[in-house]
Amino acid sequence: MSYANLLLEVKDAVALVTFNRPEKLNPLNRETIHALHRCFADIAADPAIKAVILTGAGEKSFVAGADINELETLSAAQGRAWSLEGQQALALIEHLPKPVIAAINGYALGGGLEVAMACHIRIASPNARLGQPEVKLGIVPGYGGTQRLPRLVGKGRAIEMILTAEPVTAEEAHRIGLVNRVVAAEELLPTARQIAAKILENGPVSVALCLDAVHRGMEMPLEEALAWEAAQFGLSCATEDIREGTRAFLEKRKPRFPGR
Ligand code: COA
Repeated sequence: MSYANLLLEVKDAVALVTFNRPEKLNPLNRETIHALHRCFADIAADPAIKAVILTGAGEKSFVAGADINELETLSAAQGRAWSLEGQQALALIEHLPKPVIAAINGYALGGGLEVAMACHIRIASPNARLGQPEVKLGIVPGYGGTQRLPRLVGKGRAIEMILTAEPVTAEEAHRIGLVNRVVAAEELLPTARQIAAKILENGPVSVALCLDAVHRGMEMPLEEALAWEAAQFGLSCATEDIREGTRAFLEKRKPRFPGR
């Protein structure tokens, strides 16, 4: 399978998806957004892939935002369609029932930060810079930045980041909860793989149900969200994985989850 401006490599059930236009700092043009959408649809349908790591080619950038060359001439209707197209691709990442880890190896600006925020876990190298610089260009973050950033770091900090357009350092991103960890550049992919491997030791159906419970539940009032959690718990009780997980604990051995 090949995708414009993206590399896909699968090893040990983990897909490594790399934004691959390093000479331009991996910006997102429409072709790349379409490729990203197709790539994640294929990943969703491939039972051999159990987790995903997203990163950028080169040492400077994860994704330096939407491709500015494509923005200048958009009409209002085209801009709305452009935003919705990107949002749909990112929704596919967020709702993938397999863990997605962003390994942020440099600039994650605009659409780059928006892609990273659609991932389930974010780790960064010390040179990472994360921000929503859209207002500098006279536009609004359009791939979810105005919504996912306040949900991750709180409304006050998100508004400051969006209105000043100033990126934060990896350390600051860690402090405010925008990234889970900061690790040396050479440790970034190995750490992402370790996190993926740790998750893959666990019951795959329950991992998928947990992702769904968190994502959907956070959009609901608490009472409804707790009912949703109870429904997911019920579903997990009807799996072969719960039998294996509980039996393995009682027999003091590692579980071998069938994933059903
Ligand atoms: N879209 C299109 N091209 C981009 C880009 C983007 N978002 N970000 C960087 N590039 C291109 C540059 O035009 C340049 O191309 P060139 O070599 O043909 O001139 C190349 O990538 C390298 O970028 P450069 O600006 O020379 O690198 P730098 O290290 O001096 O600065 C950044 C890096 C990320 C600070 C700077 O490129 C930048 O501000 N990019 C735009 C970020 C942005 O506003 N993103 C949100 C878009 S909505």
